[in-house]
Amino acid sequence: MATNPSDDFGIEIKHLYKIFGYQAQASIERVKQGMSKAELLSRHSHVLGLKDINISMPSGGIQVIMGLSGSGKSTLIRHINRLIEPTAGEVIVGGVDVLKMSPHELREFRRHSISMVFQKFALLPNRTVLENAVYGLEIQGMARGRQVEIAMGWLERVGLKGYERHYPNQLSGGMQQRVGLARALASDAPILLMDEAFSALDPLIRMDMQSVLLDLQKEIRKTIVFITHDLDEALRIGDRIAILRDGEVVQQGTRQEIVMSPADDYIANFVKEVNRGRVIGVEAIMRPFVSVKAGATLTVPLGTSLESAVKRLVEAGLDELVVTDSQGQPVGQLALKSIIATMVTSTVSEASQLVQPRSVAQALLR
Ligand SMILES: Nc1ncnc2c1ncn2[C@@H]1O[C@H](COP(=O)(O)OP(=O)(O)OP(=O)(O)O)[C@@H](O)[C@H]1O
Ligand SMILES: [Mg+2]
Repeated sequence: MATNPSDDFGIEIKHLYKIFGYQAQASIERVKQGMSKAELLSRHSHVLGLKDINISMPSGGIQVIMGLSGSGKSTLIRHINRLIEPTAGEVIVGGVDVLKMSPHELREFRRHSISMVFQKFALLPNRTVLENAVYGLEIQGMARGRQVEIAMGWLERVGLKGYERHYPNQLSGGMQQRVGLARALASDAPILLMDEAFSALDPLIRMDMQSVLLDLQKEIRKTIVFITHDLDEALRIGDRIAILRDGEVVQQGTRQEIVMSPADDYIANFVKEVNRGRVIGVEAIMRPFVSVKAGATLTVPLGTSLESAVKRLVEAGLDELVVTDSQGQPVGQLALKSIIATMVTSTVSEASQLVQPRSVAQALLR
């Protein structure tokens, strides 16, 4: 498969089921009829891994899969490069049905279209940093000189220049994960699968790695599937987030949708400590631009967080702002009191009882 950035490398998961056990097919019917994971295990000794998963992951975006331990995150991501065969359903990557690939096509697909970053780094201990970083290129059969050139470039990008000759055990965990990331990026695959890639790192290093990834992504625009059990990480990294519980998607959407309208108590409980002002952007609650009062106006671009919008309003001594698009055209307006109401209440419906039901309804319809 070519790796032209203009290619569409979106991932479509459709009606995917995975049941572990000898009579998985027979169990599907039971699950379709509503049998729970616990019951399937206790009565039939089969494990429900995934149930009717439908996720459309857009090309060039970061799709986060979040859920507690055992919810099916790794099982799901391993279907994308067919390390696991589904019991039922479809996995379409870049328009190609992964389940219909011949062994040869599958090998080429894994070699050129997908790279993985693992939680436990998975570096080869007897190879130097550079030798680890060239690994995927070796497998692709690239000429040695070019391998080294590309790998050195990525090692520099992840901040490891000067460490090329070190061995993994001479590096900290954060540095080892940078090697893992450089190795994955060197292969130039358009899809990056990251299974709890940053989970073993301590909090500050982890934030650091998130920043490295987000910075790189602005340029590389890969289709990234990022697994985490950490909500803060999910909200920071994900363009879209899907939340799994017991093998089922309980909610999926943007970070704003999840924080503003949690689908059930389980998710509401997850998001209740979140700093809403940082997660929610002005576009989620603005009303269409009509006009502003004469006098000074404050304009902020789409994507501005509520927290920074409030700061700027307070600094300017104003109580309303105008939201502009990338061309600087006004597209919406928003009052200080609506921003504050959204920041202090826990759901959109509560906020709508306080102020401006119209704008909140528009936010929901968006
Ligand atoms: N090979 C297998 N055989 C039987 N059951 C399995 C197998 N692999 C996974 N499972 C079961 O499928 C479910 C989902 O497991 P999975 O590893 O996908 O969870 P996870 O969300 O990645 O968890 P963690 O956060 O701990 O990595 C679990 O109940 C697990 O026991
Ligand atoms: Mg896992």
